[in-house]
Amino acid sequence: MEKPRVFVTRRLALAPSSVLGAGVEIDHYDSESALPRDELLRRVHQASALLPILGDRVDKELLDAAPRLRIVANHAVGYDNVDVPACTARGVWVTNTPDVLTDATADLAWALILALARRLREGERMLRAGQFRGWAPTMLLGRELRDRTLGILGYGRIGRAVARRAEGFGMRVLFTARGGGVPFDELLEHSDVLSIHCPLNAQTRHLIGPSELLRMKRGALLINTARGPIVDEAALAAALESGHLGGAALDVFENEPTVHPGLIGRDDVVLLPHLGSATQETRERMARIALEQIERVMRGERPTTAVNELGPR
Ligand code: DGY
Repeated sequence: MEKPRVFVTRRLALAPSSVLGAGVEIDHYDSESALPRDELLRRVHQASALLPILGDRVDKELLDAAPRLRIVANHAVGYDNVDVPACTARGVWVTNTPDVLTDATADLAWALILALARRLREGERMLRAGQFRGWAPTMLLGRELRDRTLGILGYGRIGRAVARRAEGFGMRVLFTARGGGVPFDELLEHSDVLSIHCPLNAQTRHLIGPSELLRMKRGALLINTARGPIVDEAALAAALESGHLGGAALDVFENEPTVHPGLIGRDDVVLLPHLGSATQETRERMARIALEQIERVMRGERPTTAVNELGPR
């Protein structure tokens, strides 16, 4: 009998064969670079299971090309790259990788807060350019975090982990979430540092646009480790240029991997290439959890991290 085929679209932090049993055939695009879309559509044709990364769009076109598909095991906690209702309509499970990247992402959000508040990027650049001529009382003065307000937009696992760390830095925490917290306007008006941790969906796309940026405190810092399109990047560049915002630190971008040209050259902006979950341990756990979901569904069991529900078929 033909074995079900599992299609893995990128090199992972652990080998798919270390989790998947002999009952499946593995088609692995074992590369650091992205699989061209036409190749993805071609190779998914035989697949019963797909393990995409967040840059792979799983939409109706892909689902049409994959008549055997039973599970999309997204290698991320966010799943805005997957058309979940379309998967559900076709009886395809969609799973994500919750919990295992919470601490790594919260740590990175704090790395960005500190980098921005203490001007690490400017200091490092100055030193490497040979412009450090010795300690000076007024050189590269940053700002202290103690007694300032950290605003958290989205209070799920990662937002809460960022809030827990704030205690160590003596910051007050405010949050806004679907199910509670302070009203959004209040969050914007009172935050000295605003850190974004909500998912990307139709309600949160460009949630931070020109009027929200204007509502933020003069000199406030904006941190985004969630999804780029939550922030209108052109509006952000304008708010920095006008001097209204004090700085921004971004790990994610509106048109990833492209960065808005108005952000690239600025000293008050820290930019990272989507490193939130990029630790060896976390990436191994993400790969394992995604592969385990596939293994379960191939055995006829329910996945444990499904984001959709399939009715009886
Ligand atoms: C996620 O999991 O959603 C991150 O953005 C990538 O680790």
